[in-house]
Amino acid sequence: MNLVLGVGGGIAAYKAAELARALLERGHNVQVVMTRAARQFVRPLTFAALTGREVITDLFPRGSQPALASATEHIRLAQECELLVVAPATADLLARFAHGLADEFLTALYLAFPGPVVLAPAMNANMWRHPATQANVETLRQRGHLIVEPEEGPLACGMVGPGRLAELSRIVQAVEAAAARRRDLEGECVLVTAGPTLEPLDPVRFISNRSSGKMGYALAEAALARGARVILISGPVHLPPPPGAELVRVETAAEMRQAVLDRLSEAGIVIKAAAVADYHLADVPRQKRKKSAARWSLELDPTPDILAEIGQIKGDRILVGFAAETENLIAEARRKLLAKNCDMVVANRVEEAFGADDNEVTLLLRTGETIELGRASKRELADRILDAVLRLRLSLHAAR
Ligand code: CTP
Repeated sequence: MNLVLGVGGGIAAYKAAELARALLERGHNVQVVMTRAARQFVRPLTFAALTGREVITDLFPRGSQPALASATEHIRLAQECELLVVAPATADLLARFAHGLADEFLTALYLAFPGPVVLAPAMNANMWRHPATQANVETLRQRGHLIVEPEEGPLACGMVGPGRLAELSRIVQAVEAAAARRRDLEGECVLVTAGPTLEPLDPVRFISNRSSGKMGYALAEAALARGARVILISGPVHLPPPPGAELVRVETAAEMRQAVLDRLSEAGIVIKAAAVADYHLADVPRQKRKKSAARWSLELDPTPDILAEIGQIKGDRILVGFAAETENLIAEARRKLLAKNCDMVVANRVEEAFGADDNEVTLLLRTGETIELGRASKRELADRILDAVLRLRLSLHAAR
């Protein structure tokens, strides 16, 4: 695979030379890009000798008259590159990535590169713990990048704490994991439902639920990053649409059902992350209800269960449902798996699921298998769910 190894300006920069060798030994092509600061710690010649390639250091190489090609070199490399790994990623470099600066070659390349990114931070423990750094790391994590957390131990500055560049084997492992996910949904169409539905009671009032849509949007983003065409059918949420998704906005459960049925034939994988309202007011008055001292009783009717309906007509499609529960999580999720004829149910606790950026989920598969995905950002969980979907599809096909 064509990798770019970005080297940031920290004392751990010397370890990047070993990392370059480890990646070469695994058969990857490694192009090294160094920041200005990195060159204060290690000389480009070290990497050039190891990789057999010129190291890229500047957007506009000094000395010679800038050639036309140098103005677009970061774009050319972004197209050729299949994975970007940055080690050590300093506090400054993380901040520049998080905020989208393009002030030197490596940061410009980062912005131009749409593929998988692995970041291995290394810095002083206080710099790592600083809320600014933690906020930048969180932004990058939410963007879907793999962060190889630094390790605890004595640091070059004399302090003891978190900040040491992770063991090289962990960085290599993360590169291999990110590489495996790369474009493995190319040619596929994934239909994702997300967010709450909103059921009107009159022209101004409605009932709804606390779903933020974050899990469904994270799934859409992850599927897009892996090369899928994504149809995202979304209830009302306050999230920017993932670039590239075919967004269908709906309000009510009935509209969501219609949108899913309209687009179902296009999709091979259907993920129902939406928190669909279970009840609605069948006849919504045309006029706003006036306030009065009298009690207001509402008779609500059940909404159609979209997931159960798709379960009956899904054919070869992989159908993934969600179960948010306050009690008997696993038993209830398994009941839904069978009752709605799903291939997989993602089970999470109501307290964990709604609104937060992180989540902890368990997968129940129709094969009887249970997989604990652990606690992670919704974006990372989205990738782990897609990993499990692809593995499940392989095993179901093999069993046929
Ligand atoms: N779902 C659906 N249509 C509905 C209700 C739910 O498609 N009218 C889907 C959700 O998108 C989710 C799954 O069903 O994937 C589980 O939703 P949940 O509300 O947890 O389950 P319910 O079927 O409503 O069961 P219960 O109220 O018994 O928990």
